[in-house]
Parts: sequence; C-alpha cells; structure tokens
Amino acid sequence: MRSFFNYSLLPLVLFPPSTCLGSVDGINESQHDLYANPAFHHPVKRLSVPSAERFEANYGRYAAKLENRDSLVRPDWEAATKRAKEYLQGWSVEDLVTLTSGIGWAKGRCVGNIAAIKTKDFPGLCLEDSPLGVRFADRVSVFPAGVNTAATFNRDLMRWRGIGLGKEFRGKGVHIALGPMMNMARVPEGGRNFEGFGADPWLAGEAAYETIVGMQSQGVQACAKHYLNNEQEHGRRTTTSEVDERTQHELYLHPFLRSVQAGVASVMCSYNLINDTYACENDVSLNKWLKKELNFEGYVMSDWDANHSTESANHGLDMTMPGDIQSDGTDKYFGNRLVQAVKDGKVKRERLEDMATRIVAAWFALGQDKDYPEVNFDAFTSWGKHIDVRDDHDKLIRTVGAASTVLLKNERSALPLIQPVSMVLIGSDAGPPLKGPNFYQDRAGLDGVLIQGWGSGTCDAPYVISPLEAIQSRAKDDHTSLSWFLDDFDLENAAKAAKGKDVAMVFIAATAGEEYLVVDGNVGDRNNLTAWHGGDDLVRTVAAHNSNTIVVVHSVGPIDMPWVDHENITAIVWAGVPGQEAGNALADVLYGDWNPSGRLPYTIARKESDYRVRIQWNRQQVHYNEDRSIDYRYFDAHLIEPLFEFGFGLSYTKFEYFGLQSSFSDDFAPEDAQWRAGKPTSKAHEVGSALQDWLHRKVFTVSFRIQNVGTRYGADIPQLYVGFPQENTGDPPRVLRGFDNVPLNPGETQTVEFKLSRYDLSIWSVQHQAWVAPPGKPLKYKLFLGTSSRDFKLKGTLQL
Ligand code: BGC
Repeated sequence: MRSFFNYSLLPLVLFPPSTCLGSVDGINESQHDLYANPAFHHPVKRLSVPSAERFEANYGRYAAKLENRDSLVRPDWEAATKRAKEYLQGWSVEDLVTLTSGIGWAKGRCVGNIAAIKTKDFPGLCLEDSPLGVRFADRVSVFPAGVNTAATFNRDLMRWRGIGLGKEFRGKGVHIALGPMMNMARVPEGGRNFEGFGADPWLAGEAAYETIVGMQSQGVQACAKHYLNNEQEHGRRTTTSEVDERTQHELYLHPFLRSVQAGVASVMCSYNLINDTYACENDVSLNKWLKKELNFEGYVMSDWDANHSTESANHGLDMTMPGDIQSDGTDKYFGNRLVQAVKDGKVKRERLEDMATRIVAAWFALGQDKDYPEVNFDAFTSWGKHIDVRDDHDKLIRTVGAASTVLLKNERSALPLIQPVSMVLIGSDAGPPLKGPNFYQDRAGLDGVLIQGWGSGTCDAPYVISPLEAIQSRAKDDHTSLSWFLDDFDLENAAKAAKGKDVAMVFIAATAGEEYLVVDGNVGDRNNLTAWHGGDDLVRTVAAHNSNTIVVVHSVGPIDMPWVDHENITAIVWAGVPGQEAGNALADVLYGDWNPSGRLPYTIARKESDYRVRIQWNRQQVHYNEDRSIDYRYFDAHLIEPLFEFGFGLSYTKFEYFGLQSSFSDDFAPEDAQWRAGKPTSKAHEVGSALQDWLHRKVFTVSFRIQNVGTRYGADIPQLYVGFPQENTGDPPRVLRGFDNVPLNPGETQTVEFKLSRYDLSIWSVQHQAWVAPPGKPLKYKLFLGTSSRDFKLKGTLQL
C-alpha cells in the first residue's frame, strides 16, 4: 500500500451533500423532521477520510509497501545439509532415530516434541500449531485466518502476516510452526477451508510462498500442510482421494511447489489415502513428486497419528508425530521399532541418515542452533514465563482484517457510513462472545462475533474487539444514536429494534472446523451452507422493517444468501474470519477509513445445487471427478451464473484499464524450442525437474494501465486470467495467473506488469512425465484482465 501520507492530500467532502445524509428510505416521518431541524445537526458533516495520524494509529507500518521484498531469501539448503552431515557423523542408530520420532502426545511442552540429545548438544525440537497463531499459549495474537489472507490479494500483507506469525512463534521458543495450511477449498462446506487460502491453487500458491518467506525470515521453520488432498474432514482418516496425475500437478501440488520455492523447512503428510495409499507412506507423492520432481530438501513429518507403519520410512516419511508410545513403553512404528528395522536391514542405515540429515539441516538452515529462545510455555499446563510476543501485531491484524473484507453489494450509497443519526446492530455476531473469547474447546462454539473457525487451526484470543465495541466508539464521535439487539431468535423484538433507524445492520455467521470436535451436529465440515442461528430469518425480518438494511457476514466460507436481492438490503459486507481485531477492521471499511480492496477467494453460488463438488458422505473414496474444474473454473466451463464470482469485490471508487501490451524476453533457446514444440526438455527427468530455471524464469510480460477515475483514494486488485489453447480439451476456459494490489489517488494512473513463466503456461504431460506447452500451433493463449474472474476490462491474446 501507498504510504499513509496520501490521505492527507484528499479533499474532505467527496460526495454530494445528499449522499452524506446516508439513505433516508425507511426512516419514519418524525425522524425526517428531526433530521431536517438544524438544531439537531452535528456541526461537521464530512466523510470519514482518516487523517494521516489516525491512519498511522490504526495500521502503523503495515499499510506501507514492504521494502526490500527480495532481500529475504530462501535458506541455504546446500550449506545446511553439508553441516548436518558433518554434525551427524558417527551417531548411533538410536540417536539418529531419536531425531525422527516424536516422544508421544502431551509428553512434552508442545503439541509435538523431539527429545533433546544432551551428549550431542541437541536441544530438541518444539512443534506447535497453528496457521493463525501460537496455539495453547497466552499473550499471543489471533491473526486473520488463511482464507482472509487470501482475500487480500495483497502479497505485502501476506508477507507481513507471515513475519508477524514468525515473530510470535519464535518468541515462544517454537522451532516448527505447523502452518501454513494449503488444502484447497474444493468443497464449499469443507471444515478446514478457513485455515487455507481459498479455492484457486495459483492464489493459494502465492499466499503460501509469502507466508513461508515471512515466517522463516524470523528463524522459525514453517510446515506446509496437509500433503495431499485433505479437502474434506468427513472420513479424513479412512477415505482415499482419487485424483488423476495431471490434476494433481496442475492444482493440488502447486501450492507445495511454491512452498518449496520459498524454502519451506517441513511438509506434513495428511491423514487420508491418496489413490489407495496412505499419504504418509505414499512413494509416489513423497519420493517421486515432492523429493524428486520438486527436490524438497527439508523433511516430511506425519500429521498427528497419520503414520501407519515403520515401512513408511522407506516411502518418504522422515519424522513421525506425535509418536505412538504404547502402554508397554515401545513406539508403535518409529522409535525402537525403527531402530530394530534398521538393525534388521528393513530400513537402510543410509535412509535413516537421510531422514536425520533433513531434520538437522532445517534446524541449521533456519539458524536455530544459535541463540534460539528456549520453549517458554507449556501447551498442556499453565507453566511458563508468559512472555508477551504480541508486539504491535494488533495493527497488522487490523490492516489484514480491513484489507480482507469484501464488499459484495452497495446500493444507494449505503456505504461508507457518514455520521448516521441512528443505527442499530442486530444479531449475536455483532457482539462479543457471550462466554468469553476462549470458552469453547478449540473454539468449537458460536455465541458472539466469529473470528476463527474451530479445531487445531486456532489459538487462544487475548481479547476480541466486537463490531459493537468498534462501532460504538465511532458512534460516540459521530453523535450517532446507537442501539443493539443481540438475540438471534427473538424476531419480534428484532423487528421492533430495526424500525425507524437510519441504518439497520444485521450480523450473521457460519462456522466450521476440524472433525474431532462436533458443533450442532457438524462434524468439522458444515452440514449445509445456511447461516447459523436462523440467520436467514433474522435478515429477512430486519429487511422487512428497515429499508436501509446492511448485512454483515462472518463466515468460514460461502453461505446461501436467499435474501440477496431484497430491495431493502442496500449493502452486504463479507468479513470472513478476521482475527482478534474483527470489529475494528470491519468499522474501518464501514466508515471508509479503508476503501474496500478484499476480493472473494472462492465463488458464492446462487443456489446450492450449482456447486459441482460436495462433501462425499459415508464413502470410502473421494473422487475428484471434476478434474481441473474446481470453483470458478467449473462455473465458467458450464456457463453457470454465480451469485458472486471468485475474485469479486466492490470499492468506494472506480477504476479504468487501458493499453494492454505483451512482450517476450528470449532466453534458454534450446529448452524454449523444445517446450514450444510440446516436448519435454532433456532435463525433464532430473532431480528438481519441476523447479528448473528455464521453466520458472518470468519471460512473458503483460502490461496495462489502471486509472482511478472515482473520487476516493483506494487500491484496485487487477487480475489476469489466461485461457489455454482451445485444442487442449477438458481445460476450464480461464485460470488465474496474476494479481496485484494497486493503490491510487483519484485521477492517478499506474502501469501494472504481470510476468509469466513457461511453467505458468504449461500443462503436465502424463505421457512425458514433464511440464510441456499445451498442444496447438501456433500456441495461442487468451488473456483476460479485469476486476474478477468474470468482469473483464481488457482482452488480448498471447501468441507464441
Ligand atoms: C491436524 C494438524 C495439526 C495436528 C497437531 C492434526 O489433527 O490435522 O493440522 O497440526 O493435529 O495438532
């Protein structure tokens, strides 16, 4: 984002005076009279454009463009591996095995622990959840969930969030932070979708990359999870995900490829089976794809109890978690079983050394062998030094929260709010959690504003700013009469509360989580897509009694919105699961301090039957039959009109696009010729074939100009979608291949460049087992540039 100083340049009144009064429909006569009486006027009527001071106070350094993006480089694996090999020289089988085997659940201070080896000066390792904050600890922050991070479409904020998370984990002495999570939101009701980065692999890949680079810049090892195809909670330990190889490469592997490019230290294999073999003993996914094609140099740990054999060591598993200590003191699979297996020759010593080398290399690569804080909390007791690691992360969380808020509908200038005379907030989601922020185990409950889902992907909140609290403090400044009614089910009184107010804001929510906790019969995955607590009835009731009804949705994913076209619903704001600063972030958008720039990281369908993929209940197999057509790709391929498409989000200003150009900078001549001919290169089967330079060098440039033609400062999120050559049947019409965050003052214009690699324009050839150009001569790609996956401002072709 541009520096906050731009704000001070803006004129204070940007809307005609009539809009400044807000929408007056639905206000009864006496209020009109009241409002018309100058004696009741608050003296200064102005848009809530923040001063530089306020902007700084809210967002601090986080809204500024991140300097030195490229100075944070991936760890030096080569040097670290060399050191690890030297360090491990002469170690006994027992000591090597110690590095690979968790000590058992709740036997150490963290959710996963590798024992210290005193004779070797090895301090042990602490592995701790979660992707949005340090779990089971105090004086930590609840960051916006992964899905909100994706909704920012803002790489700087993704990186900043990673840095913030990294600092907190490090401050607590955690060596390995168990995130980010990058399973795809393939199914709208998927329980853990909130932890991940939405429904597009390319977007998820960028978010994973930035998060990992950010986290690891603080010396914490990141863990890319869950590898692979853990896209539903139902039956996650027993079902097999059946996915064809091309789809695997082009969709599900992609975020992991970006993780390896970021230098990720560890990968967590998932509970499910992949094409009939457990993910943690799957030779194809672990040895062939991850370690050979991607040349992943870190280590693979099992999800908790996802290892099912000692043999898994031969198929690519390097560390078992949390360790399966039996009542007789022996470990079920690793530990002394692995020692025995090595002694019996069932697992080769070289393989054990490789496992240990990878684990120690990660420890060296992240610099954890020197001056790393000791673990200073206990996940299972109240022991600890209670070190405050929150820093100024409230500002970061607020910034990401505001930037991830998506404005879905805005009619009759309902938003931003401009000193409304009277306003009511309706619904429990407007208020604080009734029983406190951390009452429900791993947040498996809903009785106040929803800031995260439930399960291991959560953490304890130090506080929660509710919408009521944040809006109330604005109401005080604005001299707005603010009222609230937080009962979801008393529709009669909700109607009374809604009547006669300038603005009636109704709050609804939907949550989901991990399968080990059940909420209202939802076993992790949601049973349906309706708003919880009878939210639809509440919205309809409020809308029936107030013609300026604004709906706010806190949700882990898409919900049904059967009331969307109601004429009294003037605005809809999707706030997702924004973390502890929920209320402040929302108020920033409602009042226009933050011009909305969030975009939907998944599609919201008009009706449930429009979604192609649903949870597969009570089956052994989860068939990924839609192949590459998940989310918007399916809607586009089948000409289904979504309610709100992937990438959609409104702004308080307007942008225009012009001047599309493309260019190619030639290099890697022999590989390029082979690639264009649709053939694999001579290096196609080397270790690291999927990460080679010729494939990933950004050689195609698509450039265009954007102008802010509206009246407010704000950022646009231009998106580039590429249509692969027609001959390539079975492909969705368009796929995301570029996005950016472009902040502009009114009237200002900026050139934007999207750079593509051959990889970005390739398909996975099962026949050649390589990345190749799609069939077609000449190679002709369609380019679509716009503000969503459907609203295109510029179109062109890229002919090679
Ligand atoms: C989850 C992982 C988590 C682990 C440790 C598992 O049930 O799937 O995401 O990191 O538990 O809590």
